[in-house]
Amino acid sequence: MAGVHLGLLLLLLTSCASAWKTFVVPHSDGQDDTPGLTAALASGNYSTNSTILFAKGTKYNIFTPIKFPALTNVEVAIEGNLSYPDSISTIQDIVGASGFPGSWFTFTGGTNVTLRGSTDPNWGWIDAHGQAWWDAGQQTNRPHGWAFSKITNGVIRDLKLWKPIGWNFATSGSSNVHIFNNRIVAVSDTDLGSIPHQSPGFSAGGTDMLFENNYVQNGDDCLTVGSGAKNIHFRNSYCEGGHGLSIGSLGQGGSVADVQNVLIENVVMKNSLYGARFKSWTGGNGLARNITWKNIAFDNVMFPVYVTQNYWDQETGPLPNNTGTNTHIQDFLFENFIGTINDKPGYVEGSCVTDPCWYAVPGATGEEVIIFDLYPDTARHAVLVLMSRILGAAATNIVARHIVAATETQSPVRVMCNSSTITSDVGFECWDGLFIPTQEGLL
Ligand SMILES: *[C@@H]1O[C@H](CO)[C@@H](O)[C@H](O)[C@H]1NC(C)=O
Ligand SMILES: *[C@@H]1O[C@H](CO)[C@@H](O)[C@H](O)[C@H]1NC(C)=O
Ligand SMILES: *[C@@H]1O[C@H](CO)[C@@H](O)[C@H](O)[C@H]1NC(C)=O
Ligand SMILES: *[C@@H]1O[C@H](CO)[C@@H](O)[C@H](O)[C@H]1NC(C)=O
Ligand SMILES: *[C@@H]1O[C@H](CO)[C@@H](O)[C@H](O)[C@H]1NC(C)=O
Ligand SMILES: *[C@@H]1O[C@H](CO)[C@@H](O)[C@H](O)[C@H]1NC(C)=O
Ligand SMILES: *[C@@H]1O[C@H](CO)[C@@H](O)[C@H](O)[C@H]1NC(C)=O
Repeated sequence: MAGVHLGLLLLLLTSCASAWKTFVVPHSDGQDDTPGLTAALASGNYSTNSTILFAKGTKYNIFTPIKFPALTNVEVAIEGNLSYPDSISTIQDIVGASGFPGSWFTFTGGTNVTLRGSTDPNWGWIDAHGQAWWDAGQQTNRPHGWAFSKITNGVIRDLKLWKPIGWNFATSGSSNVHIFNNRIVAVSDTDLGSIPHQSPGFSAGGTDMLFENNYVQNGDDCLTVGSGAKNIHFRNSYCEGGHGLSIGSLGQGGSVADVQNVLIENVVMKNSLYGARFKSWTGGNGLARNITWKNIAFDNVMFPVYVTQNYWDQETGPLPNNTGTNTHIQDFLFENFIGTINDKPGYVEGSCVTDPCWYAVPGATGEEVIIFDLYPDTARHAVLVLMSRILGAAATNIVARHIVAATETQSPVRVMCNSSTITSDVGFECWDGLFIPTQEGLL
């Protein structure tokens, strides 16, 4: 008998030691709720096999940034409402101070980490009070939102961001992450405040990421894929008001880019500046290859398909001179695009603060469904260039296929493309002129 009891006791003890723990983040009205969570995290009790719960029914004050330690088998569940400070200067002081972790919510690594919001429409919102920042045109010391960094096997689901101040989700250095059913609502209620600048919805760094069923209303890239990203799949999503499904910018300041295997499909782009977009800077280097955008419906978009290897910051001076290098691009496919081009005369997008606008393309009419602004000879990898010289075959493979578009003014649809920058069939007549699909574009 005693032996049986001892065995049971041991069993109980061991199962207790590895039992799942739940920490309900405490709240005090009018107080900052971050220190209570930080103290619990510092105890180390909740770094493993735990749920960290922001409880439904509670309105939390996240008056200072939260930085999580490395976590293993941890779920952070946001079922209550979370609020940033509503004072701009309070946030600016924190962001400007040394020791600011970079984002208001920062993950620093770990394995099997789930960041989950709520499916209850009334709860689980994270309110950053961005309206005041937008109305004031305030761009100084803006915090990034969520840095889901260095996580292996992660999930971000059902999160809801209300009026975020700046950048939203970033996944740099992470791998095998599933990001789905998230909502970003960065929509201004006033005409005063233009939509937030430099606020990508999802900044995809890392490898093996699946983004799906996300809903983004913002004022910058819906998706931006950065250097180092590989095997990125973005699908079944809605993007409104922003700057497109973007790769880059790559190669800034002479850096060497590396982006491979990106598939973006089944996305609605509404009232956006760009649809599918690639951007790299003169003077950069490296390679972006095997990138597909397909099944894209666009409604009231100014530049549905836009590739530039001459990206630059117009506010800092004229287009830099050709330095002889750029990020190579290879195997790009734009397939099954259908929609309308915003060519309303005099239309100015909200992020335009200069004349000409930063997005102005010299010579463009506004009726272009595709603009390929390529850097001579970089649209093929050096090895392929060499091979094609030896074999006499064109090997570029930048193609737009099954593109159906109409302008809002009923003007004929046009393209911009310089045939001396690319020799292979791009799927349409490569010129500055009417959009005429070629055989490759109708396959
Ligand atoms: C966490 O749980 C797993 C299995 O569920 C167990 O193997 C592991 O020892 C636990 N870790 C800690 C630190 O309790
Ligand atoms: C952490 O666990 C220890 C031991 O179980 C306990 O004494 C302590 O109160 C816990 N701390 C927190 C913050 O939960
Ligand atoms: C990963 O974490 C979840 C909770 O977030 C847990 O249910 C699951 O058992 C963990 N998986 C492994 C392999 O430990
Ligand atoms: C939670 O926050 C959202 C966004 O600010 C708000 O619309 C909602 O009413 C809040 N929920 C409650 C119960 O106050
Ligand atoms: C290209 O990327 C896709 C994912 O979009 C992947 O399935 C395929 O294997 C890649 N092809 C090559 C040649 O790398
Ligand atoms: C480009 O080169 C021309 C001629 O050498 C020079 O006048 C111009 O200032 C250069 N532009 C830039 C942005 O450096
Ligand atoms: C086309 O590209 C070539 C090579 O870069 C350049 O010399 C030429 O000026 C470009 N033509 C137009 C019309 O932009």
